[in-house]
Amino acid sequence: MNLLGSLFHSSIGKKLLMAVTGLVLFGFVTGHLVGNLQIFLPPEKINAYGHMLESLGAGLWIVRGVLLACVVIHIWVAIQLTLENRAARPQGYGVDHTNRATLASRVMARTGLVVLAFIAYHLLHFTIRLQHPEWSEHTYRLANGTMARDVYTMVVQGFGSVGVSFFYLLAVGLLSYHLSHGIVSMVQTLGLKNERWTCGLERFGAAYCWAYFLLSAAIPLSVLGWMPVLSGLIHR
Ligand code: HEM
Repeated sequence: MNLLGSLFHSSIGKKLLMAVTGLVLFGFVTGHLVGNLQIFLPPEKINAYGHMLESLGAGLWIVRGVLLACVVIHIWVAIQLTLENRAARPQGYGVDHTNRATLASRVMARTGLVVLAFIAYHLLHFTIRLQHPEWSEHTYRLANGTMARDVYTMVVQGFGSVGVSFFYLLAVGLLSYHLSHGIVSMVQTLGLKNERWTCGLERFGAAYCWAYFLLSAAIPLSVLGWMPVLSGLIHR
């Protein structure tokens, strides 16, 4: 069997695929958050950033392709591993075998599904702009005279709706919870977890997830005007 075949067919190969695709997606959500935080800077910044990404042309499509492949593999392998675990678990003892697992680890499939539904909604909302085709026409003149798409106004208008903002809050909350188990599990599979720094790793995972959640939540909440200091940074 070739390397790719054994990756997809052995348990350790599947866990490795989960960890590597998880690492790529973790890198993406972290980078995406850093980019999005530019909403707290003058509009020039996030619009120039959006324009820079769009001007990557074919490069952007390659990145999108890699991300899509990671999402598909991550989900497909998760389903396979869940089915294998179920088949291997002895039935009928009436004992709760999940006692030692954390709640976050037990609800990975459910939190993952909500995040997937969120991604579909998010792409329709901000990338395809189904509900607001006019967002594709909004332009902004950058300092160097280039006309760019006005991502800033799109985000501010998008989060102007309380319902939409609350859906985002729920999604980033569940994504953070999903990551809190995912980070530890990923490091363990990649063989980087050892007794000496297990505790530090778990603390880092928890701190990262809280920071990710609070920073992500700050964007819609500030647009809604519910964060006194940060809301003042959003120039409407
Ligand atoms: C407060 C949170 C978020 C904000 C403000 C935000 C903002 C945006 C914006 C403005 C775009 C479209 C960029 C454009 O039109 O050029 C976008 C695209 C995207 N976002 Fe988010 N996002 C957030 C959270 C997330 C999360 C949590 C995920 C993943 C779980 C995510 C995944 C994506 C993806 C996959 C795209 C498409 C990128 C592409 O065009 O290739 N976003 N986001």
